[in-house]
Amino acid sequence: MILDRLKRPMADLRISVTDRCNYRCSYCMPSARYEWIDRSEILTYEEIVRLAAIFADLGVQKIRITGGEPLLRRDLPVLVARLAGLEKIAGLSLTTNGSLLGESAPALAEAGLDRVNVSLDTLNAEKFKRITRRDDLNKVLEGLSRAREHGLRPVKINTVVERGLNDDEIIPMVEFARRNGFPIRFIEYMDVGNANDWRMEKIVPKQEILERLGAACRLEEIGRNDGSAPSVEYKDADGGVELGIIASITEPFCRGCTRMRLTADGKLVTCLFSERGYDIKGLLRSGANDGDLRSLITETWSRRKDRYSEERFEALRSTSGYQTQVRRKIEMIRLGG
Ligand code: GTP
Ligand code: 5AD
Ligand code: SF4
Ligand code: SF4
Repeated sequence: MILDRLKRPMADLRISVTDRCNYRCSYCMPSARYEWIDRSEILTYEEIVRLAAIFADLGVQKIRITGGEPLLRRDLPVLVARLAGLEKIAGLSLTTNGSLLGESAPALAEAGLDRVNVSLDTLNAEKFKRITRRDDLNKVLEGLSRAREHGLRPVKINTVVERGLNDDEIIPMVEFARRNGFPIRFIEYMDVGNANDWRMEKIVPKQEILERLGAACRLEEIGRNDGSAPSVEYKDADGGVELGIIASITEPFCRGCTRMRLTADGKLVTCLFSERGYDIKGLLRSGANDGDLRSLITETWSRRKDRYSEERFEALRSTSGYQTQVRRKIEMIRLGG
């Protein structure tokens, strides 16, 4: 097990397989200046699996596949099968926008995917289109059902809450989740990337989400899975819904952050808000042996001292305040959350 400078073990790996996405969510998409990764720079499945095996050897137990939209990458079930086959990996999951999940769910389940998290911010078709720029609500709803039908467990819903946009849907979303047996997590709108026009006024803080939920459920706090997950889990005392809140802004969770990220173009990234990654593809493609790759991963994690959300929290409370634009962050579509 490798520890970083704040004594956090490297236990999870988030692998982005593409920066392409068929949605243009207002809270995520970069500006027109964004430069898409060239195809030749994208790691092949062989390269990803080779690195994942080294990560597993170094103590990573859980892998999450992300994007952009990961289901846009051709033959994703082939990669899923190979990652699922790795010894020492106890959980293999996927975060998706759900648009292609209906058609992909059978093959993903067959390939050995354990579970899936699906973004869904609204049940209103017109609002869905406004947020994502695609008229896909029904496809996502179908994707959720198909994933459940094919045995992926759990199928969780991720709902980013933005004041004035979908905060009036907190209760309807919970009721939808309850009716269908999907765990749901409400996410505070974060200042990811550089161009999503994040402002503090757009956030609905965790406390307010909980107060509003009080009208529909009696929630009992369970805590964070493994003590380190972004989401604090709750159960409904009246039964029926598993619910979580991801409060990176008002209740940062950097202290327990065990997540390494690998971008589609082969960069190691140690924080969602990092300005740069560490090139491992260069080493991989120069004929390095596993020992060299292990050393780079170990060095990168050992030097890590990121605690961006905690620093943001401190800055928000200071007299000088918080300026998100000061830092040139890697875009969310390269990191997949
Ligand atoms: P589970 O394993 O199901 O709990 O998944 P997860 O919540 O770790 O991953 P998911 O991809 O579903 O992400 C949900 C939300 O949490 C997204 O908004 C992510 O950007 C956010 N998130 C995930 N990891 C981190 C992190 O390390 N830091 C911050 N600030 N946010 C994170
Ligand atoms: N704030 C919070 N969550 C976000 N996501 C994308 N952009 C943001 C943001 N600005 C979420 C998506 C998806 C996950 C990968 O990250 O909804 O569920
Ligand atoms: Fe939306 Fe996810 Fe695509 Fe970003 S990567 S535009 S959050 S679907
Ligand atoms: Fe981890 Fe960075 Fe998120 Fe903090 S802000 S929890 S260090 S990824």
